[in-house]
Amino acid sequence: MAAPALAKPPVLDKAKGEKCVEETSVMRKRHMDFLKHQRDDTVHGGIRGAKHSLAGCVECHANARDGAVLGSSQHFCQGCHEYAAVKLDCFDCHTSHTKSAQASQKRGVPR
Ligand code: HEC
Ligand code: HEC
Ligand code: HEC
Repeated sequence: MAAPALAKPPVLDKAKGEKCVEETSVMRKRHMDFLKHQRDDTVHGGIRGAKHSLAGCVECHANARDGAVLGSSQHFCQGCHEYAAVKLDCFDCHTSHTKSAQASQKRGVPR
């Protein structure tokens, strides 16, 4: 009952689709290995590629309302990283929004 708030794992936005690009347990532990800019992985093939594209993660894991993986402690990538105290710079360059959310933003559709 009186568990400290900090020990509570985050409730994250629900993913789209039946399953992830790898087993959920594998993703939980190893998603960073699939994603990082590791030239050798690209050379060795298999590990990286369309299957592990960052845009793909965003399409399935974005919040249903704003189409983003960042924005609050419920948003998929931000929520868990806040909890784990991990800082990412990926989204300085890569978009954190789905294609359709980006399109709406360009059209000035209020959200
Ligand atoms: C300084 C800008 C910059 C930062 C920061 C950055 N990237 Fe990239 N990334 C690029 C560019 C440029 C490409 C090549 C163009 C492309 O494929 O979009 C790329 C390509 C990729 C790709 C292959 C293409 C794709 O869409 O999947 C992945 C995966 C990726 N980056 C993941 C990451 C991750 C994870 C981080 C954070 C740890 C990160 N990047 C940080 C600039 C950046
Ligand atoms: C086709 C849709 C889809 C794509 C693409 C996708 N995922 Fe997933 N992901 C899921 C589903 C569904 C789950 C399982 C959710 C569950 O079990 O509650 C999941 C689970 C996860 C988990 C474990 C979450 C947890 O609660 O422990 C992580 C981490 C994850 N994905 C990261 C990623 C990353 C990083 C990418 C891009 C490389 C990605 N996913 C691409 C659908 C997707
Ligand atoms: C269920 C929790 C969880 C979710 C959800 C999650 N991550 Fe992570 N992520 C972690 C943890 C924990 C680490 C640090 C692991 C370590 O340091 O060994 C990490 C590390 C990373 C790293 C490596 C950072 C570095 O500089 O080493 C990248 C890149 C990354 N995550 C990308 C993503 C992206 C993109 C998403 C959303 C699609 C995501 N993660 C969702 C838990 C999560």
